[in-house]
Amino acid sequence: MLIVANWKMQKTHNESIAWCQSNKNKLIELVQETSHTIVLCPSFIDLTGVNEFFKDTAISVGAQNCAPVELGACTGNISVLSLQEIGCSYCIIGHGECRLDFTEDSDLIARKLELLLKYNIKPIICIGETENARNNGSTKEFLEKQLEPIIKVLEVSNVRMPIYIAYEPIWAIGSGKIPEFAELQNTINWINQYMQERYAQKIASEINILYGGSVTEENIKTLREIKGIKGFLLGKASLDFQILKKIVLLI
Ligand code: PGA
Repeated sequence: MLIVANWKMQKTHNESIAWCQSNKNKLIELVQETSHTIVLCPSFIDLTGVNEFFKDTAISVGAQNCAPVELGACTGNISVLSLQEIGCSYCIIGHGECRLDFTEDSDLIARKLELLLKYNIKPIICIGETENARNNGSTKEFLEKQLEPIIKVLEVSNVRMPIYIAYEPIWAIGSGKIPEFAELQNTINWINQYMQERYAQKIASEINILYGGSVTEENIKTLREIKGIKGFLLGKASLDFQILKKIVLLI
């Protein structure tokens, strides 16, 4: 299972470094004890510092976003080339907060995906419906629109690397709400089928589905029973090492 700790902008630089100082050895032991892969995704400015702690270990470091162009006039953005240079092996793109707050659309996210594939950084592509779409029964149509541009990129790429699609309903992110068991199982089945049946022959890479959105030490016992999920994206629950540990041990 892949466990992605998305720290968002919840820790300052000093707090991120202090977290690593206190928990480095415990985290390494935790990974040795389980067969899970853990990816820490701190703020951009902390990627190098966090990577220093974990560079010769089984713990990976991932970015929370990247620029849609390699280099150039792109104020405030971070190049995939820089991410690669500093040893960042994963990158989240299309997070619900970026889609909503920074109005990132699926075409922009597809351009980021192209660059991640080109520079060999494993993409964690977030998709998820709004509360409105869920309420009016159009979750699948909503997800399909987010998936289409991604699939177009994957179809023409012959890069072979694990691709992660994180299903994170927008209404579940940070809200304490998660989908009903049957609803979630249904959506995960649909995403898996959609990716495999329609596009499997054309896509060289292995596709893995993750779930994210209000995962806790309590609901993980239910969530881990969902079939077809290859890991979890944790926001709030990844900030405190003890909570993260409990969840990792339960997965
Ligand atoms: P949450 O965040 O676990 O705090 O809901 C998950 C995410 O947004 O990746």
